[in-house]
Amino acid sequence: MIGNKRPDDMVRITTSKTAKEFIDAQITAIREQVGESRVLLAISGGVDSSVVATLLLKAVGKQLVCIHVDTGLMRKGECDQVIEVFQNQMGAELVFVQAADRFLNKLAGVSDPEAKRKVIGAEYIRIFEEEARKLGDIAFLGQGTIYPDILESGPVKAHHNVGGLPEDLQFELVEPVKLLFKDEVRVVGEALGLPQTMVCRQPFPGPGLGVRCVGAITRDRLAAVRESDAILREEFEAAGLTLKIWQYFTIVPDFRSTGIRNGQRVYDWPVVIRAINTVDAIEATVPELEWPVLQRITSRILAEVDGVGRVLYDLTPKPPATIEWE
Ligand code: XMP
Repeated sequence: MIGNKRPDDMVRITTSKTAKEFIDAQITAIREQVGESRVLLAISGGVDSSVVATLLLKAVGKQLVCIHVDTGLMRKGECDQVIEVFQNQMGAELVFVQAADRFLNKLAGVSDPEAKRKVIGAEYIRIFEEEARKLGDIAFLGQGTIYPDILESGPVKAHHNVGGLPEDLQFELVEPVKLLFKDEVRVVGEALGLPQTMVCRQPFPGPGLGVRCVGAITRDRLAAVRESDAILREEFEAAGLTLKIWQYFTIVPDFRSTGIRNGQRVYDWPVVIRAINTVDAIEATVPELEWPVLQRITSRILAEVDGVGRVLYDLTPKPPATIEWE
């Protein structure tokens, strides 16, 4: 097994040729490590776990079991894409756990952001352990650890790594991309033939839409977050912005304001648009978006998302604001 330190002379993976060499070497290494045993892997739809899933499938196909959990906090269409790509197209054995009700029931009335993260993280681990127990007889656990995770491991990462699994699970880890930086993982993902939407996926926090539905999560406000986020993503795609802006999403705060709809006084939520550019997520700037793009997104959200009566664009850089609202 390779250690946790990236060798100084390790080739940077920037081309399909270097990616293919890496893929071949990893397939051999995984086969050597795993032998005939079964491997379990939690896939989130993110690029790291998707690349690991594809490498494991190529190396030890039938021995791999993937688990994908619908926490109820995923973006619109995300679980369907994971099932489509890994189960239908690649033929992986996939256990899909529909756990939205479990998460939302546990989260009912929990308003503190860190408490929400803890509830989500703990429930995720509980579900994973339940499913692993049902499967029995599994010796290895695949993980999408990447090199920055190793470099940054410590107190900051601990709270950011919600959805991560505890170290005391009784498995040996298989971590084929642990010496790669994010841009290299993307090049490998492309060489493996993963869809662009997965390879170029913007960062998505472990607690998902849960930290974008500010305060105590309610199903109606969560639906407003999901629907407005889907509209934002569609319109950014149509405007050619998806590769130009690092992260973009919507937030629904837990207060209402007055409006008029069909001559009636209404009391609706605002949707906040957040779009940022950054190198490392430690400092971030807000891009100047074209007015017509903002107007189109605003009109669509107001027309298509129930319970929303205002649309705002957050102009605050980081610092002082964080990227997420919670
Ligand atoms: P903040 O809000 O701290 O976000 O400026 C910096 C980056 O981290 C992401 N983020 C998280 N990722 N679990 C994660 O896996 C979390 O709890 C979490 N909170 C924030 C955020 O989306 C941004 O990319």
